[in-house]
Amino acid sequence: MRVPLLAANWKMNKTVGETLEYAGVFAGLMEDMGDSLRAEVLVCPPFTSLPALCSVFSHGDIRVGAQNVFWAPKGAFTGEISAPMLKDLGCSYAIVGHSERRHILGETDDMVRQKVRAVLDAGLRPVMCVGETLEEREAGSAFAVCDVMVQEGLKDVKAEEMAGVVIAYEPVWAIGTGKEAKPDDAEEVIAHIRATVKRLFGEVSDEVRILYGGSVKSSNIRGFMTRGTIDGALVGGAGLDPVEFARIVQEAIKAR
Ligand code: PGA
Repeated sequence: MRVPLLAANWKMNKTVGETLEYAGVFAGLMEDMGDSLRAEVLVCPPFTSLPALCSVFSHGDIRVGAQNVFWAPKGAFTGEISAPMLKDLGCSYAIVGHSERRHILGETDDMVRQKVRAVLDAGLRPVMCVGETLEEREAGSAFAVCDVMVQEGLKDVKAEEMAGVVIAYEPVWAIGTGKEAKPDDAEEVIAHIRATVKRLFGEVSDEVRILYGGSVKSSNIRGFMTRGTIDGALVGGAGLDPVEFARIVQEAIKAR
């Protein structure tokens, strides 16, 4: 059984003060859910807020993750943060290959491959993002684009490590646009990605969580979570409000 994962990606938002405010409200709302919280919840703030968030959530059920990571463990890489540094802070996840990093900052499949490897080596779990642009979807190449990203990004991963890898299917045209994918379309691509993982790694594909991301909110999460193939969501804008993110978690659990 794959435990659903609901992850908030704050992107470049919130000061430390705002982070602590959010954490207080969100921790209270999660505590109110008690035993009904049958999901893993992850919050990924900017690097500057990681120490504060890790210290607040260190004893609870809420996991903390980074939005990016560098591939080398240490050295002369000005401005970068390594996976062992994230582990040391108390992080359990790192997002890798988000489309904003691929498209705005020029991250390649080869960089993603190295980052996934570094995250696993440090004992963290990668959330590797894949997804097609609108142009690619209209050209009918969504499957092919995701296949390349999955194949290249996971090239250095062994089958026995795959259960710890999370894949997020995030169609670029649905990110931050308010236009979410149709659950049918998301399900179709996610099923295809799972088949690709199976072809590459075998039966462990049944244990790999594959999330949907792109304009997820409390009013549309149910449509995705009622599909058995979709194991949760990577939430951007709607994850910035603790009350809305808690509602997303609740709705997701109810839908299962
Ligand atoms: P969005 O972002 O929910 O604001 O569309 C999703 C993401 O980028 O992970």
